[in-house]
Amino acid sequence: MSDQAQSGIYPASAEFTANAHIDADTYEAMYAASINNPESFWGEHGKRIDWIKPFTKVKNTNFDYGNVSIKWFEDGTLNVSANCIDRHIATRGNQTAIIFEPDDPKGQAQHITYAQLLEQVSRMANVLKANGVGKGDRVVLYLPMIPEAAYAMLACARIGAIHSIVFAGFSPDALANRINDSEAKAVITADHAPRGGRKTPLKSNTDKALFDCSEKVKCFVVKHTGDQTTWVQDRDIDLKAEMAEASPYCPYAEMGAEDPLFVLYTSGSTGRPKGVVHTSGGYLVYASMTHQLTFDYHDGDVFWCSADVGWVTGHSYIIYGPLANGATTLMFEGVPTYPDAGRFWAVCEKHKVNQFYTAPTAIRALMGQGPEWVEKYDLSSLKLLGSVGEPINPEAWNWYNTHVGKGKCPIVDTFWQTETGGHMLTPLPGAIPAKPGSATKPFFGVKPVILDANTAEIQGETAAEGVLCIADSWPGQMRTLWGDHERFQEAYFAQYRGYYFTGDGCRRDEDGYYWITGRVDDVINVSGHRMGTAEVESALVAHEMVAEAAVVGYPHPIKGQGIYAYVTLMNGIEPSEDLRKELVKWVRTEIGPIASPDLIQWAPGLPKTRSGKIMRRILRKIAENDYGALGDTSTLADPSVVDDLIENRMNKG
Ligand code: WTA
Repeated sequence: MSDQAQSGIYPASAEFTANAHIDADTYEAMYAASINNPESFWGEHGKRIDWIKPFTKVKNTNFDYGNVSIKWFEDGTLNVSANCIDRHIATRGNQTAIIFEPDDPKGQAQHITYAQLLEQVSRMANVLKANGVGKGDRVVLYLPMIPEAAYAMLACARIGAIHSIVFAGFSPDALANRINDSEAKAVITADHAPRGGRKTPLKSNTDKALFDCSEKVKCFVVKHTGDQTTWVQDRDIDLKAEMAEASPYCPYAEMGAEDPLFVLYTSGSTGRPKGVVHTSGGYLVYASMTHQLTFDYHDGDVFWCSADVGWVTGHSYIIYGPLANGATTLMFEGVPTYPDAGRFWAVCEKHKVNQFYTAPTAIRALMGQGPEWVEKYDLSSLKLLGSVGEPINPEAWNWYNTHVGKGKCPIVDTFWQTETGGHMLTPLPGAIPAKPGSATKPFFGVKPVILDANTAEIQGETAAEGVLCIADSWPGQMRTLWGDHERFQEAYFAQYRGYYFTGDGCRRDEDGYYWITGRVDDVINVSGHRMGTAEVESALVAHEMVAEAAVVGYPHPIKGQGIYAYVTLMNGIEPSEDLRKELVKWVRTEIGPIASPDLIQWAPGLPKTRSGKIMRRILRKIAENDYGALGDTSTLADPSVVDDLIENRMNKG
């Protein structure tokens, strides 16, 4: 082992650093400027995008509970689609904007230039307009990872409509809830979504969802696989056919900086998913700047973020960040293990990918298949690797570094959230040496603080542990929850007054590096997907045989966290293996496959306080197989239920 590996600090190579946008001194100076004088810092960097009417006001933000209000560049106007397409046409009209790699490795990859992107987006925008979609209308996208998903996002942005993407793995019920909550005017879907050689019937899922929605909702269908689907006259629109007839140019709308760009539903600790609202100006400035600097993106590089556009990572780092920067961005329809565990690396070789960004769960899954799948491919184009979604464990980090990066690619471990719009804690690769498992330091303008979870006191010493809050606004921050500003304030600004609360626990070491220790609320992170335990619980109790359910996370070797459900059945219902399977299937249909419980334990009773509150701390410990450390159980109404739960626990280590 080298000295470096022993000390656990990995600086980028001298060669990398020499070419990097930001070196250590620049980082320090720019960071200080961004914190000491955000007005002038963001006033300057706000100019990295094109404004129709330049802003004169930079920052107008208030984190005080009761009066939370966040505005950036508020008097400026712009169009996000024009920033992602039109402004590049003169200089890079013939450059590839999007590389599309289909699920089937024998299928045809597509290289879509900026000029072609302008035409396709314009055609789609014209079709939307012709069908009555306009400024401020919500459009739900339920699509595979195909170029039309990018066109749809940018077409909405072009005409000022607000898109809300629903991940194609969600069920009809989940789709209907989002269509209804956002009061969408239209849905854009496809016939089928091929993934890993299997097809998800998106159109028939959409048909089911629309039974529960207003009959006015239009349904645009991309005929992608060409399989036959049902067709509802006067509601369904063949999108590609209409695009072929539409005008190839659509002028872009002039939008205010604070006009919403998209709503993205995400899980919280209570109740239904929350519609996170991002607006136009600040979001684009932040997405583009983090894309360029975190990944050290240079002109001509091929950038690949393997996320799905159904998640925020896909929004910021497949579409908006890269395209605002005039980059070449890769969209991959498939999965890492199809047709085999070499697919990621085959795609890197085939398209000469320079920066590759994925989630630890994918790395762990591939690590289990052995390094020979990586070694088969020429990965010499790779310059940098990224990680997102959960803490990366040192074993996965080392494997990624050694086998994929060949020890020469910096790894950027980026901590951020749907709510933050872009990276919050991340190394800038030429400036900040990595420590495996740490997201390192704050991005420009981000002012992290660690608070004591109970007293809310600031932990001022360099080395500290507590909950992670952010003391001031940054341009990429969410502005509100769709239709519910109260809930927005309650969820993020009520618990620790004056701060944005991330929901994550965090440790800061003696070098000022931040280490995320995981969620401190009832949100769990399953295969990099965020899931509210309350959502899974309400799906379970919706089953007629279930009286009560409590769901917690437990450590899972590949998924990071698995879903552990304690289920109390209705009186007289006998537990059985068949019922267990039925409940798993039930949750899959209620929410989607990503919410499938990994373990279901029959619980004759749940540990509750005398006031009837379920003591999740105890359930978590039992699920973690750590029942020696249950802590105080004296406040339980009936302590004997705990013995039964321990006796019959599913995760025996
Ligand atoms: C977790 C994904 C540790 C964290 C972009 C956060 C991470 C939640 C990291 C947000 C990381 C994300 N290290 N934990 N690098 N990145 N998380 O909204 O718990 O899907 O609060 O956004 O993922 O998940 P979301």
